[in-house]
This record gives sequence, C-alpha cells and structure tokens, in this order.
Amino acid sequence: MIFDALLLDRLRSANNVVFFTGAGASIESGIPTFRGGKDSFWVDFDVETFATLDGFLNNPKQVWQWYAQRRLQIQGLQPNLGHQVMARWQAKASKVTVITQNIDNLHQRAGSQAVLELHGNIAQYKCVRHHPVTTSVDLTVSEPPLCPQCGTLIRPNVVWFHEALPASTLNLAEIASFESDVFVSIGCSMDVQPAASLPYLASQCGAYVLQINPESTDLDEYAHCNLRGKSGEVMPKLWEAVWGECL
Ligand code: OAD
Repeated sequence: MIFDALLLDRLRSANNVVFFTGAGASIESGIPTFRGGKDSFWVDFDVETFATLDGFLNNPKQVWQWYAQRRLQIQGLQPNLGHQVMARWQAKASKVTVITQNIDNLHQRAGSQAVLELHGNIAQYKCVRHHPVTTSVDLTVSEPPLCPQCGTLIRPNVVWFHEALPASTLNLAEIASFESDVFVSIGCSMDVQPAASLPYLASQCGAYVLQINPESTDLDEYAHCNLRGKSGEVMPKLWEAVWGECL
C-alpha cells in the first residue's frame, strides 16, 4: 500500500490526534456492524424491544438477559490490530483521544487511555433514573437488580433510541475534535448524528481529516484522504509507513 506523502507528514508532525471509531473498527474482532449486509447486527434484532427505554420497561427480564449474554460474548472477543495501533499511537503524539460510537470496551482493553464513549459501555450500568452503579453487577441473575439509591430498575449504560448522548462526553469529544491536528475516522458509516458531525467540525477548525473504510460514505468528499480498506489491515501498514517500525 502506497501512502500519500502529505498524509505521512501530517501524521508524523501531529501533536493532537483524534481517532474516531464506529462499528467497522470492531468487525475484525468478531462484532457485526449495524448496517448493510446479511450479517448486519440489525438483522434479527427488534430495535423497539432491545434498544429503547420503553422496550426495557415492558420486557425487563428479556432485555436484561439479552444484554448480559451480549456482554459475555464481547468479553470473549479480543481487540484487533486496528485497536492496537490506536493504543500505541499514544507514545507518538502529545495527545491522542479516541472517540468511539462502540460500546464494546475494546479500545480500553487494547490499552487506549483517553476514550470518549459517545454511546456508552455495555460493561457499565445505571438505573433508569441515571444513578450510576459503581458495584459489580451479577450477570447470572435473570432479572435486572434494583438501584440501591432509588429502587428503580438497573439497566446497561448504553444509549438507546430516543435518548440523548451523555452531554459531558459529547462536549469533550467536540473539544477534542476542535483541537485536533489530524482527525482519523475509522469504520463509521456517518449515518448517525450527532457523532457524524465531528469530522466536519475538526475539518472546519483546520484538522487534516483521514477516513479509513472499505466503503464510501458521505465524508468522502470532505476528507483530505480516503483509504479504502479494513481497519485491521490498513492501520498496521499506516503505522509502519509513518513510524518506520513494525507493529
Ligand atoms: P454502521 O454499522 O452504520 O457502519 C459501519 C461502517 O463500517 C460502514 O461504513 C462499513 O463500510 C464500515 N466497515 C465495515 N467493515 C470495516 C472494516 N473492517 N474496517 C473499517 N470499516 C469497516 O456503524 P456506525 O457508523 O458505527 O448507535 O453506526 C453508528 C451507530 O449506529 C452505532 O453506534 C449504533 C447504531 O445506531 C447506537 O447504538 C446508539
């Protein structure tokens, strides 16, 4: 793979790098994407039941068990080479921020430290009144436990449909995008707002925008560089080309 000289130069000299990831960054770890294709996550998935608060309140046991099973599945999967490169980049730039739409914790498990999770984390819990749950949650119980503070049902700390993104996290993501020298969008369909606005914000504030995705997206015409390929394949090659080191 031959990389553009300007791209390599901008990555080498960047003090402040943002990696912005979507479902495509985790597909090589074994987690399906949401949209597109027969293997898409939304196939066989009843959004109204499993991804809305009403669905949870009407079917607490069923939804609790579904998320517990999914969390256990994800725990058995591993970060891929793309996640590993993003974590290693911390040693190369003064500031590296990972902004992710994924709830799978794989960036943290790969070693990334500053991770802003726009859609929550499946391994965390809160109650329906938004009290965070700090103690560990027993996944073997078949029904959602009750909040020790207010007695309401405990739910996974993920963003469901019709819910707002966590405001402080979104705010930090906007600041990181605004301040970035290079903004790298990886495996994002760019179909989901407000997350999809971040690369445009970065670009308007002067960042060099790189997109890594095997398919085209609405970001293509705004990105300074589009690398068509899979995260777990492109990222190690990019690392070698930029830093002259094998992974
Ligand atoms: P999508 O499933 O919409 O899009 C995944 C993207 O990854 C597509 O553009 C694919 O072309 C690309 N892709 C596929 N394989 C890839 C690979 N190996 N490497 C890199 N890219 C690859 O996922 P998102 O854009 O993340 O929200 O969707 C955002 C949100 O949609 C999710 O966070 C979820 C859903 O609504 C919530 O759950 C709140």
